[in-house]
Amino acid sequence: MAIAGVCRVTGRAHAAAPASDDGVTAVIVEEAGEGWLGALAGAVETGRLTVPRVSLEGVTAGQVTVWARAALAALEAPLRYALLADLLDLVERVCELGGIRRVLVRAFTEAPTGRCGFHVDTVAPQAPPFGALRVYNGACTEYVEPEDVEDVRRFYAYLSRRERLARGGGEVPAVMDACPDFVRPGAAIRAVPPGAVVFFRHLDVRRHWSEHPARAAWIHRSPMAGGPRLVVNVSPAERRRRPR
Ligand SMILES: [Fe+2]
Repeated sequence: MAIAGVCRVTGRAHAAAPASDDGVTAVIVEEAGEGWLGALAGAVETGRLTVPRVSLEGVTAGQVTVWARAALAALEAPLRYALLADLLDLVERVCELGGIRRVLVRAFTEAPTGRCGFHVDTVAPQAPPFGALRVYNGACTEYVEPEDVEDVRRFYAYLSRRERLARGGGEVPAVMDACPDFVRPGAAIRAVPPGAVVFFRHLDVRRHWSEHPARAAWIHRSPMAGGPRLVVNVSPAERRRRPR
């Protein structure tokens, strides 16, 4: 049976097979036995670890290591090594999935705000589609199953309207976030499980605002409120180099 939409697996080693299926929009990976996440949550929530918002463009795994060693210096050694290894693993898996060597890494420790609503992430033309997102602690990312999107045109109308309101400093009506009008009536807004990694489909930027199938990109948003979180997003930053 073909897999479609958002699927869940246990262990990152099992993410590659579903990600190669055109019908799969995102693969949510839950890991077992990551005891260090609790200690990391404490460090982020007490402000012991702060990562100012950064965007590392077109970097290799080696360059990410250099950045992370400095950025995570406030953490004690075992925790620092666990997080460093995890970051590198995310980068390497995105490279492996896409047959690339260079990625865009965005990272920050911040409390979520209501500024950004449902959206899709994009990649440059001809870059491979799968990137990774990990929210290490705190409130979880929310998403809509492709089958629950009533109409992609309506999604873009929603996105455009909400962006205009948020950018203009106006108040976004609560109903826009609670009951987005592009979601099929009765369908639930879903949440990524705490600490899970999501490998998810980005949209070729040339198709943004076009009438593509809902499964062509993962429609998601940050939570609207909560305490500081460590968020890392890894996107492909070059064309595929070698066949999978
Ligand atoms: Fe995003």
